[in-house]
Amino acid sequence: MKLVIGADHGGFDLKENIKQYLDEQGIAYTDYGTHTPERCDYPVIAKKVAEAVADGTFDRGILVCGTGIGIGIAANKVHGIRAALCHDMFSAEYCRRHNDANILTMGGRVIGPGLAREIVRIFLSTGFDGGRHEVRVNMIKEMDK
Ligand code: RB5
Repeated sequence: MKLVIGADHGGFDLKENIKQYLDEQGIAYTDYGTHTPERCDYPVIAKKVAEAVADGTFDRGILVCGTGIGIGIAANKVHGIRAALCHDMFSAEYCRRHNDANILTMGGRVIGPGLAREIVRIFLSTGFDGGRHEVRVNMIKEMDK
C-alpha cells in the first residue's frame, strides 16, 4: 500500500510520532510536510495530500492538524476523497469497513500518540466490506462529480 502523510504545525509532533511507529512496523510512507514546527496553513497540506491520493499516486493518506477538523474539511473538497476524522478505534475500523475512507485525519491536540498509533494500525489494516456499503459509497461518488 502506498501511503502519504501530512500535518500542519498543530499536528506536527503527532505526525513525527506516527512516522516513528510506521518505521518500527516497516510500513513505507511519503511525508508531504510540514517538516518543521513553524506555523503553516493546513489547507495547503490537505490539498497536496488529498490530490495525491485522488490521482492514485497513493492509496491512503493520514493528515493531522490541531483538531483534525480543518485538515479533514479541506481534504474532503478534493474529488474522490473520503476523509474521516477518527479519535477512537471503533471509528477507525468502521470508516474503512462502511465508508471506504481513503484519508484518516486526527487532532494532535486531541489525542495522545498511543491511541493515535492504534487508530493508524486499524485504519491501514481494515478492508472495505462492500455490498450494501458499496451502494452507499457509490451514491457519495455520484454527488462528487
Ligand atoms: C492551527 O492553530 C489550528 O487551527 C489547526 O491546526 C486545526 O486545528 C484546524 O482545524
